[in-house]
Amino acid sequence: MDIKEVDGLTAQALAELAGAADGTALEALRVKYIGRNGMLPGLMQGLKDVPAADKPAMGQALNRFKTGVTAAVAERKAALEAVAKAAKAGAFDLSLPGRWPRRGRLHPIQQLIDRTSAIFRRMGFTVADGPDVETEYYNFDALNTPADHVSRDVQDTFYLPGGLLLRTQTSAVQARYMESRKPPVRIVCPGRCYRRDTTDATHSANFHQIEGLYVDEKVSLADLKGDIDHFARELMGPGVKSRFRTHFFPFTEPSVEVDFSCHMCGGKGCRVCKQSGWIEIMGAGMVDPNVFKLAGYDPEQVTGYAFGMGIERLAMILFGIDDIRRLYENDVRYLAQF
Ligand code: PHE
Repeated sequence: MDIKEVDGLTAQALAELAGAADGTALEALRVKYIGRNGMLPGLMQGLKDVPAADKPAMGQALNRFKTGVTAAVAERKAALEAVAKAAKAGAFDLSLPGRWPRRGRLHPIQQLIDRTSAIFRRMGFTVADGPDVETEYYNFDALNTPADHVSRDVQDTFYLPGGLLLRTQTSAVQARYMESRKPPVRIVCPGRCYRRDTTDATHSANFHQIEGLYVDEKVSLADLKGDIDHFARELMGPGVKSRFRTHFFPFTEPSVEVDFSCHMCGGKGCRVCKQSGWIEIMGAGMVDPNVFKLAGYDPEQVTGYAFGMGIERLAMILFGIDDIRRLYENDVRYLAQF
């Protein structure tokens, strides 16, 4: 093949490439001319048989072939893509109303964690955190819970190897926090808890709590009552009151269960409060002296209150959700209502 023929071939290749109808045709031409088993390698092979005097000129001709074809492939590719894009753009009817991207929202549980934490933040609390995988010590022993207490039963607690467990209550954070800090302490700790409950409309093996702990000199049950009353109004509305019923928790003494007056009926009795006018919201009490001792605090010096409540319960009461499982099915159509 002489130089003229090579240039002729170049011209032919460029013409064919310019007419390639689509990506597939273009690729076939690329392979045919400059692919690994295409024409170019063969032509390069032939260069060694060209007389020495003609070699430089032939080399240049082959170079024109190679760079010309490579550029033409790229150019045709860009042109085909531009056409495809234009065709697609043509599918827009500019007279149609626009489609807005759908706005995401926070899960009801996260909303309640945020709202609750914000209320206590305004009261001077900070947000603390602890691990979901706890030691038996922080979940039970440090909270003055006897070795034979029912809550330690394998029926109730998920035990892990090595003295570990999935925490059954955010109260475990109390013990951890006090151990590493000096009073005064004013924290809330939202987080996941785990219990071996059979799932039904009001129970889930994995749920959320928010814990509160306030320790200082001369903290009293009246402080607890006042702060909880304030929280009730902030969360549920200005008319909502709280009441205490005596109860028992190993880590508080005295212990109470806290009800809020029904925000739906104002206490008259309705479906939400099961006609009682009150809704059970949390457990609370004055921190037991033994808990202070185990944390290295002097119960003669400090007193404190603690409380803990279920976030799912709050969400269900506030949003009128009648089945806890709705919160975990992650049906966006359902959750988007809240
Ligand atoms: N940890 C208790 C529970 O899970 C709630 C609680 C917290 C009670 C703090 C008293 C003080 O039921």
